[in-house]
Amino acid sequence: MDLIERLQWRHAVKAMNGKRVPEEKIDRILEAARLAPSGNGLQPIEIFVITNQEIKDKIKKAAINQIQVSTCSHLLVFAAWNRFTAENINETFDFMKNVDGRDTPEDYKQHVIKSYTERNAKEQSAMADNQAFIALGIAVAAAAFETLDSCPMTGFSPDEVDKILNLKEKDLHSVALLPIGYRDSEQDWNEKLPKARKPKEKFITKIN
Ligand SMILES: Cc1cc2nc3c(=O)[nH]c(=O)nc-3n(C[C@H](O)[C@H](O)[C@H](O)COP(=O)(O)O)c2cc1C
Repeated sequence: MDLIERLQWRHAVKAMNGKRVPEEKIDRILEAARLAPSGNGLQPIEIFVITNQEIKDKIKKAAINQIQVSTCSHLLVFAAWNRFTAENINETFDFMKNVDGRDTPEDYKQHVIKSYTERNAKEQSAMADNQAFIALGIAVAAAAFETLDSCPMTGFSPDEVDKILNLKEKDLHSVALLPIGYRDSEQDWNEKLPKARKPKEKFITKIN
């Protein structure tokens, strides 16, 4: 199957059967998410991978009892930085220098730091969220590529999930969930529905 066939095959799975997904498949999905691009390469996100049933059950309650959260094999929680600081931005620049020797000019570093830190807390948090959504999209595609079911989700209380995972202590907040596993065809009503997508002419404008 090519990428388009995989994306046509996948759907937002509403119920899973609890069967465990081999760890190497999950690792490939996580690696795809790690390779996601991010603004200024800052990667202001982290992913928590939950197989502990008690924690999955607690998060399900915080997610309006959506059962794919507790019946999945692995529950990925995408979390993002609460704030951008000179410290965490400089850390990334230092890290990049160690990886590939690039020496980011000081005036550019200061420009990047200012462009993030001059925004208010809500804007900073939203900028970090955007990066989490890019990684989420790539993880959705990567799961389909592994012929695994998943469901991208924001239908949950971030405050409650942050408490369950102690994210505040890490200066992080939860952005999205991605349960991964195998569909329960009897309960998964979405499996039978055709793909509902806008026609191309309402979605794409080509400017030549
Ligand atoms: C950001 C985002 C949040 C979503 N939140 C939920 C959710 O909380 N629960 C759910 O069942 N589906 C959720 N979905 C799945 C969408 O409803 C689904 O992708 C859309 O209806 C298209 O259907 P398909 O993915 O099955 O093709 C979410 C999707 C995205 C991208």
